[in-house]
Amino acid sequence: MADYDFDVLVIGAGPGGYVAAIRAAQLGLKTACAESRETLGGTCLNVGCIPSKALLHASELFEEAASGKLAKLGIKTEAVLDLDAMHGSRKDAVKGLTGGIEYLFKKNKVEWLKGRAAFTGADSVEVGGRTVRAKNIVIATGSSVTPLPGVTIDQTVVVDSTGALELPKVPEHLVVIGGGVIGLELGSVWKRLGAKVTVVEFLDQLLPGMDAEVRKEAAKIFKKQGLELRLGTKVTGVTVADGRATLTVEPAAGGAAETLTADAVLVAIGRRSNTEGLALEKAGLSTNPKGQIAVDHDFATGVPGIWAIGDVTPGPMLAHKAEDEGIAVAENIAGLTGIVNHDVIPGVVYTMPEIAGVGLTEELARERGAVKVGKFPMLANSRAKTNHEPDGFVKVIADAETDRVLGVWIIASLAGTMIAQAAQAMEFGATSEDIAYTCHAHPTHSEAVKEAAMAVQGKPIHI
Ligand code: FAD
Ligand code: NAI
Repeated sequence: MADYDFDVLVIGAGPGGYVAAIRAAQLGLKTACAESRETLGGTCLNVGCIPSKALLHASELFEEAASGKLAKLGIKTEAVLDLDAMHGSRKDAVKGLTGGIEYLFKKNKVEWLKGRAAFTGADSVEVGGRTVRAKNIVIATGSSVTPLPGVTIDQTVVVDSTGALELPKVPEHLVVIGGGVIGLELGSVWKRLGAKVTVVEFLDQLLPGMDAEVRKEAAKIFKKQGLELRLGTKVTGVTVADGRATLTVEPAAGGAAETLTADAVLVAIGRRSNTEGLALEKAGLSTNPKGQIAVDHDFATGVPGIWAIGDVTPGPMLAHKAEDEGIAVAENIAGLTGIVNHDVIPGVVYTMPEIAGVGLTEELARERGAVKVGKFPMLANSRAKTNHEPDGFVKVIADAETDRVLGVWIIASLAGTMIAQAAQAMEFGATSEDIAYTCHAHPTHSEAVKEAAMAVQGKPIHI
């Protein structure tokens, strides 16, 4: 240790980095975390998961009041939007949680090295004008918005997700480029607050990577909610004049171009790993063809003592994946066995209804062998029906021979919460019969998971 300033230096204080740092410190390792932002918590807490969920929640309540949904339940109210106050509440949520990480760093004696870190060697990094040496370095630098060639993000008319969280007024017409997670979540926010929203998606369906039936049903629900979907369409140019944008779009397969005008454009076509400025070459590291840092099962890079986790590495770009990798890498560094089961990482889209999945899609499962599929509609779930939340279904995919659950897909108001039981069941190697014979409390949305598992067995009760 004599030669080293730290046992562990983590670069980046997002959900991957801050969790790795805290866990390493808990395990008795002298730990520092370099972060260039003014606040800790990374993309997730500052400009991602947390502020987007604050607006999703608030806009859902506004819509329930404005659309007359509350009145139907006997709650009469006049809905008046105070966007400044809504933004204030979002900022408070971010401030509280980012401040909480700072408190946890102090509590666990993790030193925050403020500034942008760059390698100066395989065990040394320069940050904030200081060069530090660490026995282990964890790269957790996350990701940032993928730019669309030829389209300039000015954060006024043409915005990325960060700009879309902070729009000072509700746009009349918001065009979202990209029908993925960000486009649908933030598109939903501004739709509920009164904007016309058009989603332009290059592929012929929304939400790539999700189960095909779920993607189709989701598109149906979003259309019903009034989102205009332009699938199989590409944006070939965006010009801005006098505060308005003109977009040129054409069929992805080729064909006649047309123009759309909008007072706000959200570019949400994916995110890419942050490695620029890290001087990886000085540590003997390079990126894979996708610009990510490749790691092995233990999150070790090719250079001894250098590890990587989270969005900067291959795999889904999700906060909980980064967090679990943060814990695992710290445990591996401490000589324990840190494991993440990458086959069981749930994904949730926090629209209303929510859309969630874990494990294989039906398509992928069928490619691998014979399967049994059970489905149960939320319309037949007593709690969802009572709460006027009839949209969606639960789908359980099981191996035809062993009955082991291979994947679970849910569209339901509480899908993000319900998917946890599916992930846990899969982690324990459950069969669909195990779920079907587990007693579920009544009346809950989760009973739909049990009934979908019963449907795999061929014997649901309520349909
Ligand atoms: P990040 O959170 O990106 O953190 C990396 C940190 O490293 C940053 O703070 C950055 O400033 C810092 N950094 C980078 N380079 C350096 C350097 N050289 N020196 C010092 N510091 C550096 N995921 C979910 O699971 N659920 C959600 O609901 C969800 N919602 C999202 C909503 C939006 C709008 C966006 C954009 C993303 C959302 N995500 C969500 C994705 C989630 O935010 C990321 O997967 C997660 O933050 C990745 O964590 P990370 O620790 O790998 O990186
Ligand atoms: P995404 O990968 O989810 O979706 C991007 C979409 O843009 C795709 O459907 C793609 O086909 C489309 N696209 C690409 N190029 C296009 C073009 N030129 N024209 C039209 N469409 C085009 O990426 P998104 O929404 O930007 O999110 C980035 C990441 O952030 C995701 O990987 C996601 O995991 C994470 N995230 C997670 C959330 C959650 O867990 N709830 C919420 C928000 C983001």
